[in-house]
Amino acid sequence: MDTDLPYREAELYAQEYESPIYRGDMLKDKVFWKKVAEQQPSSVLELACGYGRILSTFKEHGSLKVVGLDSSLSMLEMGRERYPDIQFVKGDMRCFDLDSKFELIFFAFNSFLHLLTYEDLASCFQSIQSHLAVKIHHLSKHGITASKNLIW
Ligand SMILES: C[S@@+](CC[C@H](N)C(=O)[O-])C[C@H]1O[C@@H](n2cnc3c(N)ncnc32)[C@H](O)[C@@H]1O
Repeated sequence: MDTDLPYREAELYAQEYESPIYRGDMLKDKVFWKKVAEQQPSSVLELACGYGRILSTFKEHGSLKVVGLDSSLSMLEMGRERYPDIQFVKGDMRCFDLDSKFELIFFAFNSFLHLLTYEDLASCFQSIQSHLAVKIHHLSKHGITASKNLIW
């Protein structure tokens, strides 16, 4: 499956997610990540970061190395325009090699749900493991609707 397909129009995505319809959930989402960002991890990697609306919170709170990985060029371009201080990398979270270590690696919103098979999950977590500076320090917060149907 082409994982980029639903995310080729970052402008539309941003308009929808920043619209009053979504705002309630999106604000709750940001409140959660703000609390994490306040702990000021020195280096942060967000997988499937979109245009960086969550990642930007880490930069605002003083994290030094802030990197986002996403497969959609449109999302990455918008991210680079909005948040020039953040490093946006094109890649596939199912298998990546950034030749770098991070204190915190996370997925936000429903990005984790793009790992559709056990093979995807296993290879993604292998990549995560090799990029972690400390033993295990991974966080995930999922879309509210989707997570109701899943047991973690
Ligand atoms: C619902 S958006 C969430 C983006 C961001 N986390 C947020 O909260 O705004 C999901 C993102 O996952 C990205 N994505 C989907 N499959 C991916 C993959 N295999 N590797 C990297 N990014 C992927 C899409 O391009 C999209 O930007």
